[in-house]
Amino acid sequence: MLQLRDGQEQPLAIRREDYVAPAWWIDTVDLTFDLDPAKTRVLNRMRLRRNPDSVGGPLRLDGDELNLARVLVDGQGASFRMEADQLVIDNLPDSFELEIFTTCCPVKNTKLMGLFVSENTFFTQCEAEGFRRITYFLDRPDVMASYTVTLRADKAAYPVLLSNGNLVDSGELPEGRHFAKWVDPFRKPSYLFALVAGKLVAREQRITTRAGKEHLLQVYVRAGDLDKTEHAMNSLVHSILWDETRFGLPLDLDRFMIVATSDFNMGAMENKGLNIFNTKYVLANQATATDADYGNIESVVGHEYFHNWSGDRVTCRDWFQLSLKEGLTVFRDQEFSMDLCADASARAVKRIEDVRVLRTAQFPEDAGPMAHPVRPDSYIEISNFYTVTIYEKGAEVVRMMQTLVGRKGFEHGMSLYFKRHDGQAVTCDDFAQAIADANLDSELSRLLPQFKRWYSQAGTPRLAATGSYDADARTYTLRFTQSCAPTPGQPLKLPFVIPVNLGLLAQDGRELPLQRDGESEATLHTRTLVLTEASQQFTFVGIDAEPVPSILRGFSAPVVLDFDYTDTQLLTLLANDLDPFNRWEAGQRLALRSAIQAIAASSAPTAVLDDAYIGAMREVLRDPKLDAAFKELVLTLPSETYIAEQLDVVDPQRIHAVREAMRVQLATALFVEWEQVYEQHHDTGAYTPDPLSAGRRALSGMALTFLCLAAGESGDTVWPGKTLQRFKDAGNMTDRFNALSALVSSGHALAAQALARFHAIFKNEALVIDKWFSLQAGSPDRGGHVLPLVKQLMKHPDFSVKNPNRARSVIFSYCSANPGAFHRPDAAGYVFWSDRVIELDAINPQVAARLARGLDRWSKLAEPYRSAAREAIVRVAARPDLSKDTQEVVQRALA
Ligand code: PHE
Ligand code: ZN
Repeated sequence: MLQLRDGQEQPLAIRREDYVAPAWWIDTVDLTFDLDPAKTRVLNRMRLRRNPDSVGGPLRLDGDELNLARVLVDGQGASFRMEADQLVIDNLPDSFELEIFTTCCPVKNTKLMGLFVSENTFFTQCEAEGFRRITYFLDRPDVMASYTVTLRADKAAYPVLLSNGNLVDSGELPEGRHFAKWVDPFRKPSYLFALVAGKLVAREQRITTRAGKEHLLQVYVRAGDLDKTEHAMNSLVHSILWDETRFGLPLDLDRFMIVATSDFNMGAMENKGLNIFNTKYVLANQATATDADYGNIESVVGHEYFHNWSGDRVTCRDWFQLSLKEGLTVFRDQEFSMDLCADASARAVKRIEDVRVLRTAQFPEDAGPMAHPVRPDSYIEISNFYTVTIYEKGAEVVRMMQTLVGRKGFEHGMSLYFKRHDGQAVTCDDFAQAIADANLDSELSRLLPQFKRWYSQAGTPRLAATGSYDADARTYTLRFTQSCAPTPGQPLKLPFVIPVNLGLLAQDGRELPLQRDGESEATLHTRTLVLTEASQQFTFVGIDAEPVPSILRGFSAPVVLDFDYTDTQLLTLLANDLDPFNRWEAGQRLALRSAIQAIAASSAPTAVLDDAYIGAMREVLRDPKLDAAFKELVLTLPSETYIAEQLDVVDPQRIHAVREAMRVQLATALFVEWEQVYEQHHDTGAYTPDPLSAGRRALSGMALTFLCLAAGESGDTVWPGKTLQRFKDAGNMTDRFNALSALVSSGHALAAQALARFHAIFKNEALVIDKWFSLQAGSPDRGGHVLPLVKQLMKHPDFSVKNPNRARSVIFSYCSANPGAFHRPDAAGYVFWSDRVIELDAINPQVAARLARGLDRWSKLAEPYRSAAREAIVRVAARPDLSKDTQEVVQRALA
């Protein structure tokens, strides 16, 4: 892909099919760090050996922004050369010791990859290719070595010195310095290396696992944050027990550490025995964190812990296999959170939330310029492929395997996978093969090659279904046709294996038994149909009247389902379906249908929702058998992003106006219900973040939002006043923030004083100040006020573009999460976006490239947005010194 543009050489694409085994193995690594923010010295002693099964060649070590001082081969000065960033050594013996001495400058490392300083503490981030910013190395995941690490630093400034594995020695050094020596008992790829050094304190807990072994668990934070570590610790303990119980996977280390930093590009990182976390996914107490924060912490702590097996013990052969660890581990953290739920309703709520993420973030990715298979074929910058496709769609692929082999069968498959591949760097094929081989009589085993198209073909399949009822024969036939639109580089797609969980309802909502043509017995409810052909049909017998099909229960496959339901059928599903997911889905379909009609109409949007829908929502709110959390999901309208995905041409202002009109309608038409809901749910007693009481807070928060919105329409001042009082009196952040958000989103005059008070109370709580910024930058636009507000927020003394959480709280909340305010007819939002991408790119390319993804769907926009958005992307692409990260994103957007 060597193209010339403006006389510049384009970065090279790395291709999956070019994989070759490394010419050398590194068996042991002995690292000594003299930590200094301005100049850290790294002595790297390795034992290397030729890989007899490779094509051979010189030793090529990766490096990035290193100062090289010395290279010794078996203790002797060696001749070497530099080829771009690689250190190349020829004429080596088959096995030797290599010593490399380099320095680097952590305090200037704003990319937050490699060794960096955050609030006077050293941290590392090595996935995917950060280790090469610490020392020269074979920085690829299939090179697994045993690490010994010695850290030396000033004792007063850096009292805590941590690395992977076990602490084997520590002590004093001259001049007020000290050292700590760590040995990791497990071989690992370089991306799992970590060190931390600074002033930190730890919450500690000792646990004895089922295997009878004792372990020390530690959560390290800054001194003032110890009172916010209980939930993370509890989540870790639950994770350890769950992996042992559900998959028989025990904790394999004497000591397991989590460390929090406020400067982090991502959520968290699974370094062996030393997980490093964004503070956002560790710190919580009821005064500072919302229920959503508590839930996220539980799943991220779980996610990183589960990587210990699915990622660390068995890792990826190359970065194209990223979903091997990420898809599987997301699946595992989703299952973990579901298994912690008390009942089926709470499980369904979790499933709906996960599917919502998939459909609002992954489906657009799969339909846009960055579409890529779960196992990509090429990339320019691997950091750009930490995507919702690799993570969330990857998890859906694993989930479909579980559906095809059953829960027990899947557990057997996991056991076989770890038995076969423990200690290895493997591929997605190895994983799928193990699950299939443990279930030889399953559909998965029979269909494996075709099933694996989920790994190789990008794009979201569409599944069109039609039903026909034959009254004379008392049969019902469902016909399915699947298709998948072209994606970049993949014009034609072959049929997927699609597991469709199906139920049939009678018109009165009763569940019907399912008996297929030719079968002697019926299944009571829900069965899995396995689609493999472009077009296929299934006939069910003994059906007395035309049924209502409940298709894709639990969202059994990541596809778009088209079925021409009548409104009456959808109302039947909404009121009766046994499957809570499809109950929710029926409500979403009804709302979406009304939204799309109103968007297409030329008149101003009023009375978008019909009486039947409003009535059904009233029933839901009044239903004593439904949980609050589920009601809150049903009453949440499809997002503007999701609505946009259903349209060929997108006018973001029109979508925003229609959705706002729908919200006002729900607010006013159900005013009495919202009052009742609030009265019944707002007191949740002593705070605990469990799903049941969290659901009550979510629903009462929604009620306040609608009551303030209705007040804005009627001029009523009672509810805004009550909301302000609620804001002041709240005993936890969830209630407080919901009240604040109700005032801000309704645009009420009281919002200003509430915002000021909120800032004053929490000025020393960085994560809460992030919420304060984000709420304002994400608030509904009134007359174009948000962009000037965002610019003003960037001048606030608390704003810093260098801190990723803070940059995200203002810039991303506006550009990527507030379409109604961002897509301005005057294009000022796009100009702002391009300025910020360029500004961030010079500081932190990974963060910049994420922001650059914000205009992925530009080509769907209506004019004048479309041309203006394109112009903004062109403006970014034209910059001379753009990072590979951002270049890849904008070039694909324009391709
Ligand atoms: N591997 C991390 C996870 O998913 C994510 C991550 C990727 C973090 C790259 C930092 C850098 O758990
Ligand atoms: Zn992960």
